[in-house]
Amino acid sequence: MNETVFTQQATVTGLRDLSPTVREISLRPDGGATAFTAGSHLRVQVQLGEGRSDERRYSLVGLPAPGADWRIAVKRADPGRGGSAFMWRLAVGDRLPVHGPHNHFELPPAPRPTLLVAGGIGITPLVGMALALAKRTAPLRMAYAARSPDELVYADDLRAALGERLATFCRSEGQALDLEAEFAALAADAQALVCGPVPLLHAARAAWAGAGRLPQRLRFETFGNTGSAPAETFTVQVPRHGLTLEVPADRSLLEVLEAAGVQVLHDCLRGECGLCAVDVLAVNGRIDHRDVFFSEAEQREGHRLCACVSRVCGGSITIDSAWRPDELSAAA
Ligand code: FES
Repeated sequence: MNETVFTQQATVTGLRDLSPTVREISLRPDGGATAFTAGSHLRVQVQLGEGRSDERRYSLVGLPAPGADWRIAVKRADPGRGGSAFMWRLAVGDRLPVHGPHNHFELPPAPRPTLLVAGGIGITPLVGMALALAKRTAPLRMAYAARSPDELVYADDLRAALGERLATFCRSEGQALDLEAEFAALAADAQALVCGPVPLLHAARAAWAGAGRLPQRLRFETFGNTGSAPAETFTVQVPRHGLTLEVPADRSLLEVLEAAGVQVLHDCLRGECGLCAVDVLAVNGRIDHRDVFFSEAEQREGHRLCACVSRVCGGSITIDSAWRPDELSAAA
């Protein structure tokens, strides 16, 4: 799937700062907020300046309630690609193109012991899951890690719903989330749902596999823009199309390729589906893989990268894309 067609409009009905860097935005779509399932997200069209627009996906927070607006929570990325800055400039009454909700991170229906693991703003899809699971009888635990106590957004709501079943970990307090210990304490038939930055997801996958647990019992979602180094400008060469392009720090490789007319299939825009993967022919510098689609071994090999999120540090890259204009014209 390529460009989202935004056919809905929503009005901003409320703004609430949950922490110095996280703002909750309430949205009322024309016609009223429809029901959604825990883990759903909303696509939002953001304006990035110079006439450029892009889309961002934000999890819907909590569970639907009659007459209630949708809620999303936006972490201000600094530096980011401009989407969060746009969202933070919104005022009550502003109008916004939206699409959805959709759910790619569904809560499995079968009742089984569940561990929810949240890292930072990754808490947003898990709030609704925690509220839904708290009503079930199967054992439940949520492990929620953040940089500091004031970044533990929604912790009060979660504590009210989960009580002792909520455990929080703040790096500023010297508290570390021990995934091996968390997984070791789970029943044999347990499942884990994880949402957070890419390094947390890699660690969870490794610990889950190390514990000998079934891969399908671990489900995860990321916000796909956290790398091992700050974003910087790099150069990309696409010999098949005779192109040399600059990828600025505030734009993705995918955006730059598309703007130059190189079509790249994409869907999730979060480094999860792998549709946007391109072949790496040469690299000068280091690839900062920011996806969770490729395994760590595949990332180390560096033969492919996800153009929607991954970048290059300190140099340039030469790639090939799946798009073959010469084949198209030959077939015409
Ligand atoms: S669009 Fe899904 S990984 Fe890039």
